[in-house]
Amino acid sequence: MNIKIEGPLLDQSSTCVPILRLLPEWFGIEAVILDYERDIGHLPTFLAKEAGSLLGFLSLKQHYPFSAEIYVMAVRPEAHHGGIGRALVAAAETHARGLGVEYMQVKTLGPSRPDDGFARTRAFYEAVGYRPLEEFKQIWDKNNPCLVLVKRL
Ligand SMILES: CC(C)(COP(=O)(O)OP(=O)(O)OC[C@H]1O[C@@H](n2cnc3c(N)ncnc32)[C@H](O)[C@@H]1OP(=O)(O)O)[C@@H](O)C(=O)NCCC(=O)NCCS
Repeated sequence: MNIKIEGPLLDQSSTCVPILRLLPEWFGIEAVILDYERDIGHLPTFLAKEAGSLLGFLSLKQHYPFSAEIYVMAVRPEAHHGGIGRALVAAAETHARGLGVEYMQVKTLGPSRPDDGFARTRAFYEAVGYRPLEEFKQIWDKNNPCLVLVKRL
């Protein structure tokens, strides 16, 4: 695969949301997709493309001068585990480092709710250097425990 990473770009909702719709195991709630559609529009977003077609994306949110979050990322299902996620995270981290960011975070479903798909997601984040900090039942709700993972850049 010859993957090209573009970005950061703004106004990428209509490009990226179709990828979320290919992943109902992770993004199965329409209201959540609509929230992402609104938010991706104003967040710096990185696109992974092969021969011009979009394979994945990552939107970054900077909360404070020294901290930023992988706000949402997704790769087309048929391209999973092919190195695209790793390339997107590397591009976002290089950009964040250039802005002076020292700490990255990402939130995902925590391990107290067993789920094969999100177990793979957590394995991915750990593989690219993110470490579980704490699981919160108050951020989303008690049925959707939120695991915060962090990485020092
Ligand atoms: C999570 C996701 C973004 C990762 O992107 P990806 O392109 O599939 O991941 P990569 O191929 O770059 O994986 C990098 C490393 O993560 C780990 N990893 C990736 N997929 C894995 C899997 N299915 N099982 C175990 N480890 C895995 C591996 O260590 C891998 O390194 P390796 O190729 O040397 O083995 C992608 O799989 C995805 O879109 N998943 C569904 C949506 C999602 O979980 N989004 C995250 C926010 S909720």
